[in-house]
Amino acid sequence: MARTYFAQKRVLVTGGAGFLGSHLIDRLLDQGHEVLCVDNLFTGTKRNIEHLHAHPRFEFLRHDVCFPLFVEVDEIYNLACPASPVHYQHDPVQTTKTSVHGAINMLGLAKRLKCRIFQASTSEVYGDPAVHPQTEAYWGNVNPIGPRSCYDEGKRCAETLFFDYYRQHGLDIKVARIFNTYGPRMHPADGRVVSNFVMQALRGEPITIYGDGSQTRSFCFVSDLVEAFLRFMETPKDLPGPVNLGNPNEFTIRELAELVVELTGSDSEIDYRPLPQDDPLQRRPDISLAKERLDWTPKVQLREGLQQTIAYFKRHEFAEDPIAQQVQPIIAKPLLP
Ligand SMILES: NC(=O)c1ccc[n+]([C@@H]2O[C@H](COP(=O)([O-])OP(=O)(O)OC[C@H]3O[C@@H](n4cnc5c(N)ncnc54)[C@H](O)[C@@H]3O)[C@@H](O)[C@H]2O)c1
Repeated sequence: MARTYFAQKRVLVTGGAGFLGSHLIDRLLDQGHEVLCVDNLFTGTKRNIEHLHAHPRFEFLRHDVCFPLFVEVDEIYNLACPASPVHYQHDPVQTTKTSVHGAINMLGLAKRLKCRIFQASTSEVYGDPAVHPQTEAYWGNVNPIGPRSCYDEGKRCAETLFFDYYRQHGLDIKVARIFNTYGPRMHPADGRVVSNFVMQALRGEPITIYGDGSQTRSFCFVSDLVEAFLRFMETPKDLPGPVNLGNPNEFTIRELAELVVELTGSDSEIDYRPLPQDDPLQRRPDISLAKERLDWTPKVQLREGLQQTIAYFKRHEFAEDPIAQQVQPIIAKPLLP
């Protein structure tokens, strides 16, 4: 039963001041729900939710999910976790705690409230995959002791917890494995390939490509991903996941760089550097399950999504932001140490 008279549902979004969370909240509010955004603002920012402060169905609570939370809601989306290597490696112990303690706390809350809970898992649970593209049945190839393990293993442990609560307590869970997503409100200093290229182009700096740029990546636009979250959350209980969500269209890193240069109108040159060892040549989701069960496919083309992303970065003048300037490009780095 809904916990408010007026809203359709009262929904908790952890990590709601972050990139994906803030877009999800916009959609939930558009649908008429009441939203409680919980975030400790580690990588998220009030800027992402400032347009909602006067919204009558929006509430913000500064809180760290590593600590228990007692609220009354009808549904939970658990997104709280730093998502890019520069951020999650900043304090790896806290990253694992956020994934694991955060999952325990949110699952405990969902159990008490008997409510449905969504987990933002990641393609990184596949590690350095030995099969391409990756289906949900693939168990992954993950290093448990490397610098990326705090994130990869933290998310894997969170998945374990979700499925144990599902089997042991009959909890209604939805576990999504998210692949590389981009769009407005991405952190300009997250060190990822899209934000790196856009920032370099906007500053007129050389665009750094490791290797010859023929390695491929796939990029999902944020509005497509959020649509999939909402559809997944509406599926029957017999679909706990995991479900891969991403865009299977592949582009070479060189194509991406050239498109960014064209769309920004920049005169940046492309700077080719040696390819690090173990750099994955291909990363692509198999989204057959999402297509079949969610009736979902990504719609936004890379050109259109990049236009919106570039417009956002220009509007917020990140190119002049001294903090964003401190970022070292971390592009196409190896998956394993
Ligand atoms: N963006 C992607 O391409 C991608 C890919 C795979 C998985 N994901 C997952 O989706 C989720 C959201 O990612 P994003 O790209 O929006 O990242 P983001 O860094 O923009 O958002 C994460 C949010 O969680 C908050 N947070 C971090 N630790 C917290 C804690 N202990 N307590 C409360 N809040 C905390 C941050 O302040 C931030 O607002 C993450 O769980 C991430 O692992 C994202």
